[in-house]
Amino acid sequence: MVTIAVTREAADEPRVAVSPETVKKLGALGAKVRVESGAGSRSRFSDEAYTAAGAEVVSHEAALSGADILLKVRRPSDAEIKALKPNALVAAMIDPYGDRAALDAMAATGASVFSMEFMPRTTRAQSMDVLSSQANLAGYKAVVDAASMFGQALPMMMTPAGTVPAAKAFIMGVGVAGLQAIATARRLGAQVTATDVRPATKEQVQSLGAKFVAVEDEEFKQAQTAAGYAKPMSPEYQAKQAELVANHIKNQDMVITTALIPGRPAPKLITRAMVESMKPGAVIVDLAAERGGNCELTVPGQTIETPNGVKIAGPLNLAGTIAVNASSLYAKNLLAFVDIMFDKKEKTLAVNWDDELIKGTLVAKDGAIVHPNLAAKSP
Ligand code: NAI
Repeated sequence: MVTIAVTREAADEPRVAVSPETVKKLGALGAKVRVESGAGSRSRFSDEAYTAAGAEVVSHEAALSGADILLKVRRPSDAEIKALKPNALVAAMIDPYGDRAALDAMAATGASVFSMEFMPRTTRAQSMDVLSSQANLAGYKAVVDAASMFGQALPMMMTPAGTVPAAKAFIMGVGVAGLQAIATARRLGAQVTATDVRPATKEQVQSLGAKFVAVEDEEFKQAQTAAGYAKPMSPEYQAKQAELVANHIKNQDMVITTALIPGRPAPKLITRAMVESMKPGAVIVDLAAERGGNCELTVPGQTIETPNGVKIAGPLNLAGTIAVNASSLYAKNLLAFVDIMFDKKEKTLAVNWDDELIKGTLVAKDGAIVHPNLAAKSP
């Protein structure tokens, strides 16, 4: 029988890699899931709920010992991998561009390591797309947090005692997180504008009832890569964009930034001078904080207040702050991925190493880094 290990994450990671619902479905595939006691507590999944779903709730060591597959939220330690069966399978958000030496050490264990962040963004892989499932929740939570920090009403209210004006929200970067941020800010009654460098986002912004503001020159028309991501923009474009943002941002109450370029530091879109031009009480929530931030003044992991009264939050794991939802969706992403590795009839592991989703996510195998995005840097 195929055994799947799930262990507790580090103190700063409230999410967990399986839910009682996915434990049950993994069981139906033919796997025995061994969950470390307490692993789901911060996502409100009790040991009892896991047991009722068919998991074995055991110690850390017993969960790992001789397991065929390890499912994690974050990069597992080498010690965890070494406790598994030789050449076991590991799937997690391994932060593939992060600590390279640790990644090489992980490869050296001989395990087949899959980076869920590298899941191709194809129709077939949509149910396995962890970046989308987590970014969507982060985009929602960013607006809720911003609204709470703002300390003023968001919707326009016409009352006998007078009119409360609608708050102005500006969303920078309209990928998965940005789109949910627009939708959430609109639901709360804010007047929403949004910007991006990919032309496809214009219609998406407008269809959500927000106004699109961007430098729409020739470079903008070419800014999307074949994979659907943004390209780094030229210094000339950045200068034009900065001028536009500077004029727009000084009137905004809430700014949510989500702009990212795969494998690079986050583009700096908000300068110190722009923050200084903003109104007291205005709020910036910088979702790009983990990659350095879109705002020059962002302190990753902290919320600061500038001398002119602007609050800037740089949350590092916003999806993790709604861990119940984040874990449920992440667990479903992993379930869909593990599902393609099983022979449904025989109820055994049967990985098709030529499958585009397997090849697309496989980072290390047989002791070496194998992913084309990373292989060149291997020693
Ligand atoms: P992301 O997290 O890499 O970036 C967020 C946003 O920041 C992007 O919209 C990007 O264009 C924007 N950005 C980058 N540099 C910028 C700059 N200098 N100024 C302003 N904005 C900037 O993007 P995410 O959310 O991962 O989405 C990437 C693409 O993947 C999108 O086209 C999305 O629609 C697509 N997608 C496709 C899926 C599928 O077909 N299965 C699933 C999920 C996303």
